[in-house]
Amino acid sequence: MSTAHCRTTWLITGTSRGIGYEIVRQLVQSSANVVIAACRNPDKAVDLHALKDTVATGNLHIVTIDVSDFEAVRGFSKQLEPILGDTGLDYLINNAGISTEDTGFTVDPEAFLHVFRTNVAGPALLSQICLPFLKRSSRKVILNVSSFGGSHVQHFGNAYASYAMTKSALNMLTVKQKAEHPDMIMIAMCPGWVKTEMGGEGALIEPEESVQGILKLITSVTSKDSGRYLRYNGEEIPW
Ligand SMILES: NC(=O)c1ccc[n+]([C@@H]2O[C@H](COP(=O)([O-])OP(=O)(O)OC[C@H]3O[C@@H](n4cnc5c(N)ncnc54)[C@H](OP(=O)(O)O)[C@@H]3O)[C@@H](O)[C@H]2O)c1
Repeated sequence: MSTAHCRTTWLITGTSRGIGYEIVRQLVQSSANVVIAACRNPDKAVDLHALKDTVATGNLHIVTIDVSDFEAVRGFSKQLEPILGDTGLDYLINNAGISTEDTGFTVDPEAFLHVFRTNVAGPALLSQICLPFLKRSSRKVILNVSSFGGSHVQHFGNAYASYAMTKSALNMLTVKQKAEHPDMIMIAMCPGWVKTEMGGEGALIEPEESVQGILKLITSVTSKDSGRYLRYNGEEIPW
């Protein structure tokens, strides 16, 4: 029997730093959680390894995934199976993401495709790979970490064009996933403007506050909430 048996199981991408790291840090405070922290370069994830040294064996597993590497994503079940055994995956958090500084008239098509690969196609493929594991859970939640920048109403003016386009697409992915699997819970969520490498020093909130909100919401949503586009504090974002 795996160490995940009878506990809440989580897979989070992009956990080397920022919001992903903070999600892991808060989750491992409870021994009721088994946390699978995925990052593209575990050797450089110094904080994550230091965190692992502080938690009980089996509570935190560090695995490797570059979500823009489709072959690696396709083979990812091989890393999940030994950890989960026949236990289901309760929560998949598609958090890894990258940004751009372009505008509507300066989009570089190759750079855009790389952002799309990372922010949309990778999460879409990883969700497919995780589906058999999610189906075995009674919770079955996918959280797609979006941005209010993906809203047609609340976007960043002319800035961050490629990034905003990919977050709109991630929102649509959430809607499509929900339509295909009404038995599951899919949420597109903006974490707020957060002080991370991406958010910058001028951001409004600390990762701790953002993640407290995200975890409170995601652990309380029901199938009635599936397909919603929410802020970390529960406010609805206009599409
Ligand atoms: N911060 C904000 O204000 C804000 C606002 C709205 C939405 N968001 C969203 O929140 C999520 C997390 O953002 P953040 O602020 O924590 O950003 P961050 O500090 O820049 O961290 C991004 C994380 O994603 C990882 N990553 C990037 N490309 C990857 C890939 N191809 N495969 C796997 N991992 C990859 C990075 O890993 P490496 O260390 O290997 O680079 C890092 O762990 C993103 O989806 C972002 O769009 C953030």
